[in-house]
Amino acid sequence: MKIFTKTNKLIQYLSQYKSESIGFVPTMGALHNGHISLIKRSVEENDITIVSIFVNPTQFLEGEDLDKYPKKIEADKKVCSFAGVDILFIPTKEEIYFEDELSFIAPKTKGFILEGYHRPGHFNGVLQVVLKLLNITKPTNAYFGKKDAQQLYLVKKMIKELFLNINIVECEIVRDESALALSSRNEYLTSAEKERAKSIPNSLKKATELISKGELSSVKIKKEIAKTLIEVKVEYIEIVDRDFNKLEQIELGNTIILVAAYVGTTRLIDNIWI
Ligand code: PAJ
Repeated sequence: MKIFTKTNKLIQYLSQYKSESIGFVPTMGALHNGHISLIKRSVEENDITIVSIFVNPTQFLEGEDLDKYPKKIEADKKVCSFAGVDILFIPTKEEIYFEDELSFIAPKTKGFILEGYHRPGHFNGVLQVVLKLLNITKPTNAYFGKKDAQQLYLVKKMIKELFLNINIVECEIVRDESALALSSRNEYLTSAEKERAKSIPNSLKKATELISKGELSSVKIKKEIAKTLIEVKVEYIEIVDRDFNKLEQIELGNTIILVAAYVGTTRLIDNIWI
């Protein structure tokens, strides 16, 4: 596995690949089995796999956890090498950003609802860094998790609207044995908080059970989810279609149910695709 920290060196190195398929997995590190599932899929589906680890400052809001975001760079290198990654890109902030940059603004509606409403400007930073990373790596396939459903939707929207010739591969959510969706931020949770966090996947499971019994009213399903979300501070419960339009009624095969909640001081998101 080759490791690059300099953007220009990586671009130069990649110029040798003319006909190979390139898979790219952007991450912020502290890799867990969720990330690894994306990486393994890329290794399987491409000639070359590139993983980036970059804790992108522009997607964190003032007062968020940028400074304490978990870092495990040595372990991450081993994980990547073991998973068959060909190229690991670990740039510094200076390798990605310039002075007085042009601005990126996420779509004014879909980029500023749900995550974008509670973290205003978050998706400006996400799209800015993802576009830069895609331009650097020029992948055939780029891998994103359904865990960050709105991010995935907005990245696909950007690819389409900027006419980028990149295939976005949507990857399933990986959960732990208690069904909690894996997240680098789970590391902040105490064991008591981990117990409480279980109510998030439980609430989504409850929703699927109701739907399988024929309940299709969003209002009723959201009420049941709220009842199941005990000992966590709910930020939002929302039911949207795959284009992030709010739904009054569940549409089978075209629905995402999303939850964001604080467990102690840790903010967790989860969702289920119906
Ligand atoms: P990060 O949170 O490190 O996630 C990197 C990728 O892993 C994202 O596509 C995310 O959806 C996916 N992922 C995280 N947890 C997962 C899980 N439990 N199951 C499946 N996939 C999971 O998302 C980001 O970084 C950043 O916003 C980034 C895209 C790298 C831009 O900075």
